[in-house]
Amino acid sequence: LVLVKLGGSLLTNKNKKESLKKTVLKRMAKEIHSARKKSDVNLIVGHGGGSFPHFPAKKYKVNEGIVDKKSIEGFALTQDAAARLNRIVVKELLGAGENAIGIQPSACFVCERGKIALSFLKPIAEMLSQGMVPVPYGDAVIDTDLGVTILSTESILRELAFKMGAKRIIIVSDVDGVFTADPSKNKKAKPIPEITRDNYEKVKGYLAGSAGVDVTGGMAHKVEEMFSLNDFGVEAQIISGLKKGNLEKAILGESAGTIIR
Ligand SMILES: Nc1ncnc2c1ncn2[C@@H]1O[C@H](COP(=O)(O)OP(=O)(O)OP(=O)(O)O)[C@@H](O)[C@H]1O
Ligand SMILES: [Mg+2]
Repeated sequence: LVLVKLGGSLLTNKNKKESLKKTVLKRMAKEIHSARKKSDVNLIVGHGGGSFPHFPAKKYKVNEGIVDKKSIEGFALTQDAAARLNRIVVKELLGAGENAIGIQPSACFVCERGKIALSFLKPIAEMLSQGMVPVPYGDAVIDTDLGVTILSTESILRELAFKMGAKRIIIVSDVDGVFTADPSKNKKAKPIPEITRDNYEKVKGYLAGSAGVDVTGGMAHKVEEMFSLNDFGVEAQIISGLKKGNLEKAILGESAGTIIR
């Protein structure tokens, strides 16, 4: 079982509301299908929200909980935007030949202070055993303490890795892994091939949030969530989906980008 995240930064332009990068999405779907034909890997393909849910989430501060009279409306609009992108991703995977099934996280996870407290994963386990490809996404979910919150795809994949025993997570982004600074802002940023216990504290100092409209913490959040899985023997890889063939190769076990181990 391999868990993949197609980043919202990869699938959309995060500075322009609901702007899909359709050619990139189509290629991701093809690479996933091609990798599945070459190996018997089971996949969960999660995706981020990009400029679909991040826009209403930021406007209504959904990540801060129920803060005013408009919060519930913001929750509903964020859920809708996230789910609409999910249908688009599922449709492309179906078109590429995968039996993809959209999974609505707001219907199977409950958070407490932003962290997953309850999950109902039986459907996902059954789908996997029948060779389907579950497709969850970063979503607005109920929080027993804050009222509502935003649950990132990284946090969902972290939970799924734990509960379903995945050993590998591939995060596909618009940057070629982790750098010594945000490469979209600093041309002198150097790639970091590997993050381990030995350099984690140093690397933390290089990590920033997203360059686009975002409520879940960009690269810093990704590395933190993935690093916390190291003790459980789960290896994470952050690669660029803008390089052709990169995702297919990563699913088949080739290394690229940054490995967190
Ligand atoms: N040290 C760093 N190395 C690489 N990228 C960095 C670094 N610091 C910040 N970033 C930024 O993190 C971004 C990736 O995080 P972001 O949350 O925007 O993407 P995503 O997770 O694909 O999107 P979404 O949250 O919508 O799924 C990069 O595009 C880059 O601008
Ligand atoms: Mg993100």
